[in-house]
Amino acid sequence: MMNRTTIIEVVLISLVAGAILHYAEAACDPLQFTCTNGKCISDRWFCDGANDCGDNSDEVHCNVDPSFRCPVGWASCPNRRRCILSSWMCDGRKHCPVVSEETQCELKSLLLRRRKSGTMADRWGPQVSRIAVALHLADNSTFGPGNSTGEEIRYELAMQLTRRLAKTTKMSSQELALYIHALLVACMDPSDFYGDNLVKELRKRVEASGNYTNPFLILVLCNAGDAMTDRDVERVTSAYDSQLRPFWTDSQALASMALSCISNSNGVSVDDRILKDMLQELKRRQFMNGTVDNFRTTALVTQALLIYDSYKKDFDLDSAIKVLVNGLNGTKSLLTAYYALPVFHEKSLLNVSSSHCSKQKDEEDDPIQKILDIDGETITVQYSVWMGDEINLARTWRLKIRVNSTIYDAIETVAKIDNRQKVEYNVVDRKPYVAALNGKEDDPEMGMFWFVYLKPLNSDEEPKFVEESPADVKLAPNQEIILWYKRGPWNVHSQVQRKAKSS
Ligand SMILES: *[C@@H]1O[C@H](CO)[C@@H](O)[C@H](O)[C@H]1NC(C)=O
Ligand SMILES: *[C@@H]1O[C@H](CO)[C@@H](O)[C@H](O)[C@H]1NC(C)=O
Ligand SMILES: *[C@@H]1O[C@H](CO)[C@@H](O)[C@H](O)[C@H]1NC(C)=O
Ligand SMILES: *[C@@H]1O[C@H](CO)[C@@H](O)[C@H](O)[C@H]1NC(C)=O
Ligand SMILES: *[C@@H]1O[C@H](CO)[C@@H](O)[C@H](O)[C@H]1NC(C)=O
Ligand SMILES: *[C@@H]1O[C@H](CO)[C@@H](O)[C@H](O)[C@H]1NC(C)=O
Ligand SMILES: *[C@@H]1O[C@H](CO)[C@@H](O)[C@H](O)[C@H]1NC(C)=O
Repeated sequence: MMNRTTIIEVVLISLVAGAILHYAEAACDPLQFTCTNGKCISDRWFCDGANDCGDNSDEVHCNVDPSFRCPVGWASCPNRRRCILSSWMCDGRKHCPVVSEETQCELKSLLLRRRKSGTMADRWGPQVSRIAVALHLADNSTFGPGNSTGEEIRYELAMQLTRRLAKTTKMSSQELALYIHALLVACMDPSDFYGDNLVKELRKRVEASGNYTNPFLILVLCNAGDAMTDRDVERVTSAYDSQLRPFWTDSQALASMALSCISNSNGVSVDDRILKDMLQELKRRQFMNGTVDNFRTTALVTQALLIYDSYKKDFDLDSAIKVLVNGLNGTKSLLTAYYALPVFHEKSLLNVSSSHCSKQKDEEDDPIQKILDIDGETITVQYSVWMGDEINLARTWRLKIRVNSTIYDAIETVAKIDNRQKVEYNVVDRKPYVAALNGKEDDPEMGMFWFVYLKPLNSDEEPKFVEESPADVKLAPNQEIILWYKRGPWNVHSQVQRKAKSS
């Protein structure tokens, strides 16, 4: 039952949004259906086959075609054969036939329940990229402005990926692709992730791959807006055709989605018949009971068949949906939700994009900026760590920091973002000098020391050695700070040593 306060809120909200909401929505109880003529009827009478409203408005969207788009204020049932009031979604009461709309709510809350109380950057766990994608496909407000769940996931994603990139073991291409998908939905640019172009990196790996390329990688490149080529079409079609093992249908579903994405992108023409043939073949894999191989494959194939609404013919969508729902009744794992949830929302991995992100992406959108509480005027600098004379182990971060920040501030900022970049200092005359990074210390016997250098960003100029304490050097815009573990030139080296001794 509603208490008075809620009712007043409902009235107030509908006054504000009067133009959008049904005029009478405030008049009927939320558990009731508001007929077009203003009459209130019980939600139990909705779609019961009888004209309870008198104007039949309670019986109009009860048996629609799966490709029908429900009107504003209405939501599609999981089996897509009925539209119900959006306000009935997730209210604990069932209004949909066959598969209750509450099932998909349950799936979503299953994902939300993955959140642990823990440190800020470790609540969603290693599958945070899949959680981000699934939640976005289920609810496009997740990464909308001001959603705290979305902000937390975005932050954890950024932290986790930063740490992952800092590790020396290379991330697998699949892992990289999952992160790119997540960055897209979370409104972070995967082609400029704190200076790293992850899309370019994935493209490089795809180009270097041999005869077989996982079609998921192409799908991700395409969703990320990378330029598609004829070679990509070949990769995807040959992935579809290669029968590497008996149960290969899930890869084929991914290949179909990748080809569909390519065909909608500029520059490459794809013969529509190829895609149609692929989808037709997928339909033939469906068993009498609705299953395609297994739960996951059924979900992926149903996602793929959303292309051209292909499930309409030669595919038993109702049974497939039933398979998905029955499958959910058993073990409800994260992956189950990841694969099935989009289907219940008429979405697929083809709907992974950043189109919902606000265009004027200002600095406040930056999750790390937010955590570091940076407001006011900022400058952009770059921070790099170089190891030895061969600097191929370099890591680089692009930072926005407050005007008048020092090198020390920048070093500490990066240490906050990535705890592997924690720096220790020798204190001389109460001023800090870098002495160790991530446990790697100055090593006088080996003659290796940490030095700080500065150079203008994107220039070929030689980096300039910084003699002063990092706390004494203010940064100018577009400077690159280099923390360099190297064999120092003797004079420089002795100066540092002298300073250290005088403490
Ligand atoms: C924020 O996102 C979560 C997760 O999708 C969703 O459950 C919640 O309703 C959203 N909140 C708002 C205010 O949009
Ligand atoms: C890869 O393709 C080339 C040319 O199509 C072929 O010669 C080669 O045997 C293939 N390699 C493998 C491992 O299949
Ligand atoms: C559906 O049919 C296939 C093949 O006949 C069988 O392997 C599978 O176990 C069935 N699935 C269910 C959920 O009944
Ligand atoms: C799910 O399982 C419960 C009991 O385990 C059963 O009562 C219910 O009918 C099942 N639901 C579906 C949709 O199969
Ligand atoms: C999802 O993607 C499909 C295929 O690209 C497209 O037709 C559909 O409009 C998209 N749905 C939404 C809600 O963006
Ligand atoms: C979110 O989805 C709803 C329909 O489910 C649509 O009306 C709305 O425009 C979408 N919002 C964004 C920002 O894409
Ligand atoms: C930066 O420092 C200069 C000179 O020390 C000062 O005039 C200026 O107000 C400072 N700017 C900010 C934003 O703190």
